[in-house]
Amino acid sequence: MASDSTGFSVLDAVKLVEDFSFENFYYNSQGKDVLKELEKREQGESSFFDMYSDIEMKIIMDNLDLFSMVLLGVLKREHPYQIWPKSLIFKEIQFLDIHGGQKVADVGAGSGALSILLGVIYEDIELCVNEIDASKIGVVNEKIKRTQSLNATNVFTTKIGNKFSCGFEGLDLDKIILRYTFHHFSEKKKMLESLKKSLAPTGELILIEDVDKHSNQVFIKASCPQAMKKRNIKKKLRKAGFELVEEYDYLNNSFFKYKIR
Ligand SMILES: C[S@@+](CC[C@H](N)C(=O)[O-])C[C@H]1O[C@@H](n2cnc3c(N)ncnc32)[C@H](O)[C@@H]1O
Repeated sequence: MASDSTGFSVLDAVKLVEDFSFENFYYNSQGKDVLKELEKREQGESSFFDMYSDIEMKIIMDNLDLFSMVLLGVLKREHPYQIWPKSLIFKEIQFLDIHGGQKVADVGAGSGALSILLGVIYEDIELCVNEIDASKIGVVNEKIKRTQSLNATNVFTTKIGNKFSCGFEGLDLDKIILRYTFHHFSEKKKMLESLKKSLAPTGELILIEDVDKHSNQVFIKASCPQAMKKRNIKKKLRKAGFELVEEYDYLNNSFFKYKIR
């Protein structure tokens, strides 16, 4: 496997770009082009990335989290790399409405793309990152160590959860984010109880879900086979003692903000 001088392989880079945001990746042709080019470089074929010297490639690799967001069209190309207003992630960030001083949990964080982004764009926040899959938490820990653009005032903790609990009970969290995660919980009722015990009394539980959609009389199926219907999501939350305070639809995504009833 080709490896650059940082020890970070191009294949890792491909994976990182891929998992950055599967939604943005599929919606954005630039993302696909980057993947193709990185794969070509991995296979030793000439490619766009061959234009770069080893030193330039090291700079790209050292800042890959930032760089891939630029290439995916999430961040603008010029410093200070503002988030592109039409990207899905921009809408998500707006909806999350995070402020300095807050304690925020990303539950079922996958390989941590959102958490890393929050750690880059905010300061003075506490980020509690949970995943049931220990190998993904390993990836998140590596990203936290590696990403140079993380704001030093932010505090990260990572936790391997289980199917019944997020492990953050009693933390009085201001926000809990479930990004494309709720429909994957095998024990939804127990997880909702655990999340409730982890929130501050005024805290918010935020769900981002990929759902079936009708657009101009065309039916668009959610990309995940396990995706739930909107009304089923709402029913489960209501039964668990949560009250819907805000809802927003963008592309195939529905954003829900809940408070404890
Ligand atoms: C579709 S992925 C979404 C990952 C990430 N939130 C994102 O936006 O890319 C769903 C994730 O939920 C995790 N998951 C499923 N059940 C879980 C549970 N009970 N507790 C924590 N994570 C869970 C899976 O391991 C998977 O990484």
